[in-house]
Amino acid sequence: MSVRSSSLLRVLTLLGMLVAFLVPATSAEASGPLRTHAASRGKFIGTALATGPLSNETQYRTIAGQEFNQVTAENAMKWESTEPSQGQFTFSGADAIVNFATQNNQQVHGHTLVWHSQTPGWVQGLGATAMRTAMQNHISQVVGRYADNAAVVSWDVVNEVFDDNGNMRTSFWYNTLGSSYIADAFRAARAADSNARLCINDYNVEGINAKSTAMYNLVSSLRQQGVPVDCVGIQGHLAIQYGFPGQVQQNLQRFADLGVQVRITELDVRMQMPRDATKDTTQATYYRNVVNACLAVTACAGITIWGFTDRYSWVGDTFPGEGAALIYNENYEQKPSYTAVHDALAGGTSTDTTPPTTPGTPSASNVTGSSASLTWSASTDSGGSGLAGYNVYREQGTTDPLLGQSSTNSISLTGLSANTQYQVYVRARDGAGNLSGNSPATTFTTTTGGGPGPGGGCTAVGTVQTQWSSGYVVQPVTVTNTGTSAKSGWTVTFTLPAGHTVTGSWNAVVTVSGQTVTARNANYNGNLAPSGSTSFGFQASRPNGNTQTPPGYTCA
Ligand code: XIL
Repeated sequence: MSVRSSSLLRVLTLLGMLVAFLVPATSAEASGPLRTHAASRGKFIGTALATGPLSNETQYRTIAGQEFNQVTAENAMKWESTEPSQGQFTFSGADAIVNFATQNNQQVHGHTLVWHSQTPGWVQGLGATAMRTAMQNHISQVVGRYADNAAVVSWDVVNEVFDDNGNMRTSFWYNTLGSSYIADAFRAARAADSNARLCINDYNVEGINAKSTAMYNLVSSLRQQGVPVDCVGIQGHLAIQYGFPGQVQQNLQRFADLGVQVRITELDVRMQMPRDATKDTTQATYYRNVVNACLAVTACAGITIWGFTDRYSWVGDTFPGEGAALIYNENYEQKPSYTAVHDALAGGTSTDTTPPTTPGTPSASNVTGSSASLTWSASTDSGGSGLAGYNVYREQGTTDPLLGQSSTNSISLTGLSANTQYQVYVRARDGAGNLSGNSPATTFTTTTGGGPGPGGGCTAVGTVQTQWSSGYVVQPVTVTNTGTSAKSGWTVTFTLPAGHTVTGSWNAVVTVSGQTVTARNANYNGNLAPSGSTSFGFQASRPNGNTQTPPGYTCA
């Protein structure tokens, strides 16, 4: 080799090193599969598995094994698969999934023992005694089969027992057995496997709302009765066109505070087709926000995505016109949502300090004696955590009370006072809690109505449900209309003892000014008939060892 060519080689080598240094690999490539990062955060990252592609598609098996350390059978452990006719148990699909998990060092979550869907007709037609016996036998056989299998560690014992309003779902289980089937199912599962973690699972319970509060109350009461409920499963079937649910982390935390494990069990984020780059970005934000919420709560065990490739997803069949809900496309290529999950698991704390852009001037319509609708032009968020929603405030001197929150760029305000001028403005929130500037204000005046305004007497009575050295939960605070006409809104105020702070609330819109807490009705529980009542709850922290709770509640 001549002197010239060897020095040329040296220059080229140096250049090559420089280029390699200046152009980092994408973060997703840089640092390994999802399961490695999840494990180092003490969490699982899982996928639902379908038996078809698991048996005959190499790429499906490869990604499922490499990326995830937890799996759930998408259908293979459901009643119609495991006991299609009475006493005839078939475990071929379930075993295929458990064997795959064992080979790949993955934990299995059993899904699901008692559900109103995908349960054979023979079960649904049984009378009460026979149905209870069939349920107990089914649980004993299915859980019993895997009780000594090290891979199978948890079960969805009951699935989707609530309606969206928080009432019990009037399924054939409930209609035949009443709600007692729930406790019976948990007891049967515990009898079949004394170690498995036993979960109650549902959808639309991601944020704090009427349904998640009903679930919270049920889990609390079952545990008080000694029923072995160890875990709450939050499905997480989200859609970008409906907005990101409010207070996900707080919701996970309130369940954790009951002493149960929580987990995200069926995460997917669908969109209206066709897919485009903007929707992909929003979707990635939703995935990131869910992962971050779980990471922020110690008792959150992990996240299961409901499949991983858009090639096989239940969304297209179930929600016409929607799709692309997962983290790989139909050709097994990683999407922005993959990177979001990866980076959230790999990353540290959120570094988003950039607030969303300021929303447009709200415009008021449908103004009545107690309500009004507002719409404004939407904000955008570029800080990484994504747009989470909007706060609507009333301009009122030093502290402007929060009138409501919305995940979209409109809101319907209720519980307003009749014949009153309101000057209101909007601020946008992102997933990291940054607030935008104030939008310009708009002014409207409620009508004198003629219809019943919110006036008339009411009372509020709070019960301390549970307390510990540094905090307490007041639940329910029962609000009762003591007047003779209907009320269309209520406001409860109370004083927090010094050093106490509200850390969460449900079924009311709560604002705090100094030690004064104002709880206004949520948009679904403001209307009270004479003698009618509703309730809300809140959690507070207090200086360690302090034993005070708020002395009383005033209703107006
Ligand atoms: C879905 C499966 O993904 C589909 O393949 C099947 O046809 C219907 O059920 N909530 C649940 C899951 O608990 O079991 C459902 O899975 C999705 C909603």
